[in-house]
Amino acid sequence: PISRGYPIFPIAQASELNTSASAVFHYPDKDSPCLLIKTGDAVPGGVGPGRDIVAYSAMCTHMGCLVAYDADTRTLKCPCHFSVFDPDQCGQMVCGQATENLPQIELRFDDSSGRISAVGIRGSLYGRVSNLL
Ligand code: FES
Repeated sequence: PISRGYPIFPIAQASELNTSASAVFHYPDKDSPCLLIKTGDAVPGGVGPGRDIVAYSAMCTHMGCLVAYDADTRTLKCPCHFSVFDPDQCGQMVCGQATENLPQIELRFDDSSGRISAVGIRGSLYGRVSNLL
């Protein structure tokens, strides 16, 4: 079980997601915007029937600007200084000013209800000494 003090938040129904758009949610609190993404292919940390649903902090690890998901190139892009992160590889930094990967939100999929929940975070949210502050 994943606990470590993280809340468990239901965020979406897997059936409502599609590969052309991302959905914004906040986790573990209202000051931490995140993006829910359905990549279309099974990826590390992916959940759901296709193991293709992942989520990341939307705050760039460079200076905290909000990254956006580009479904065409399947990348997360920061508009401020053009850092690029890979949602297929656990938020790995591809290029740009950032020096750390984008924190990945740990998800859980419930088979019976089809619900996706956020249950934890891998990595440190921008600007925080603790993700739970
Ligand atoms: Fe994202 Fe600088 S804040 S690259």
